[in-house]
Amino acid sequence: MKIVWITGGSTGIGFATAKHFLNHDWKVVISSSNFKKLSSAKNKLLENSNNKEIHIYECDISNRTKVMNTINKISNEVGNINLAILNAAAYSPNKDQKFLIENYEQLINVNLKGTLYCIEFLIEKMQNSNNRIAIVASPVGYRGLPTAAAYGMTKAGLINLSESLFFDLQKYKIKISLINPGFIETESTKLNSFPMPFLKSSEYAARKIFRNLTGRYKFEIFFPWFFLIVMKILRILPYKLYFFLIKRITKL
Ligand SMILES: NC(=O)c1ccc[n+]([C@@H]2O[C@H](COP(=O)([O-])OP(=O)(O)OC[C@H]3O[C@@H](n4cnc5c(N)ncnc54)[C@H](OP(=O)(O)O)[C@@H]3O)[C@@H](O)[C@H]2O)c1
Repeated sequence: MKIVWITGGSTGIGFATAKHFLNHDWKVVISSSNFKKLSSAKNKLLENSNNKEIHIYECDISNRTKVMNTINKISNEVGNINLAILNAAAYSPNKDQKFLIENYEQLINVNLKGTLYCIEFLIEKMQNSNNRIAIVASPVGYRGLPTAAAYGMTKAGLINLSESLFFDLQKYKIKISLINPGFIETESTKLNSFPMPFLKSSEYAARKIFRNLTGRYKFEIFFPWFFLIVMKILRILPYKLYFFLIKRITKL
């Protein structure tokens, strides 16, 4: 049985993705910073599956030692990780557009540093395996958007990081994929007060993620297709036009 480790697997996209892997006979490891949420996620997953290979590990990814210990425990207690989906993230839209350094620091610690710690210890374990690390970013990281400075900055960092690692991890024989979901209905997006075009369910996201990560290798996995193509077009517009359009659309 292959082994998948999903960080932030207690809720939302991570939880729905865990369900898909479980139903397709993978050993599934989920982690998050909250043990209660993880236990409840495990119970829900077990209720609906004949495959009982679900393992939970409490791990706040912003703590480097905890990440190292968790990856070692997974290797010793469950087995070698074939696929790591680095999905855990903190989210906090900045509705009143105030510059709050604590907000930047929290998102940098979890979304950027946390993901980096996972990669650091996964490289040690995955070398020469042809196994894969998938990083969940967001199209918010394609370009700067109002109210999204801190979150968007961390996601832009993850996109750039994945692109560089595409080259640099070749020598370790580790594949890297970048996942860019559009708006998906989860606890995080409940915090948004703005309209979310092409909003999809976490079930939809999980289907796309499972299919693409288990099919032929792709660097970027993005969905829903139409929304992401629009975001990709906005990405290449000159600043003057881009700022004009975003101001018109968001009225901010
Ligand atoms: N929903 C969207 O529209 C959307 C769009 C684009 C990208 N994304 C990305 O998709 C991923 C999943 O988001 P989601 O919408 O499913 O949000 P979510 O339901 O809020 O899930 C976030 C997960 O991350 C975990 N987490 C938060 N801080 C953590 C920490 N310090 N250490 C370990 N785990 C931590 C949470 O669990 P605990 O609280 O138990 O730690 C939870 O399991 C994120 O990377 C997000 O940026 C989401």
